[in-house]
Amino acid sequence: MVRQKIIAGNWKMNGNKELVDAFNRKKFTNTSATVIILPPAPYIQLFTNNTIEIGIQNFHPNANGALTGEVGIQNLQDLRPTLKWALIGHSERRTLFNETDTFLQEKLNSLLTSTSEISAIICCGEEEGQDRKQVLKRQIMSYFSYQEPDPLRIVIAYEPVWAIGTGKVATPSIVQEAHQYIRSLIKDSFGSEIADEMRIIYGGSVNVSNSSIILAIDGVDGFLIGGASLNIDDFSTIIDSIHML
Ligand code: PGA
Repeated sequence: MVRQKIIAGNWKMNGNKELVDAFNRKKFTNTSATVIILPPAPYIQLFTNNTIEIGIQNFHPNANGALTGEVGIQNLQDLRPTLKWALIGHSERRTLFNETDTFLQEKLNSLLTSTSEISAIICCGEEEGQDRKQVLKRQIMSYFSYQEPDPLRIVIAYEPVWAIGTGKVATPSIVQEAHQYIRSLIKDSFGSEIADEMRIIYGGSVNVSNSSIILAIDGVDGFLIGGASLNIDDFSTIIDSIHML
């Protein structure tokens, strides 16, 4: 099964208007990949480049309410059609903002049951020293405890926490084993059709020197890129490396 690759850039709390302008000027014409940028929320509507899809890094599962500072599901609907993706369960949200498996499952459920048609990139991954399979099983099964995963609306990002922003990229065998394991979890619970269609992408210190090696690993359908997505040349080079496979 050929799955369309996803190259997503998570700017986190970085970037500025100049970077948005630079991305607006650049045409990403590699049809083998869907290019996604997740900028800080205030920049979402500044993107005018139809070769990039835009995502939001965070939202609250409630439609609206007295939650100062939060962006609710109803607000996301008004960012359509620019907004197409939402990130859920990034390790920084889990650790720095205490988002639990239950809360993340609520976010996913509320996004998928809203009328927004926004798709989700859901993150999973173990911390240093944790049992990888145990963590992945707990996180993945928690996301899908309400509904079966729709491969058209969900992309899974495997991001070992120890590889995020550290320069310590996971070895090809770890990446392959983790991706295979996640796909097997989906297959065992929801069948091989859904498992075959599901995009599973890797994140954690992806850069221009390691991207083609990781992308060549069986079962890797693209990347969630932090640091290297802030450099438009590096980000473009990574996208172009898909041609070389
Ligand atoms: P990194 O971040 O590429 O800077 O390691 C990845 C991420 O946080 O998604």
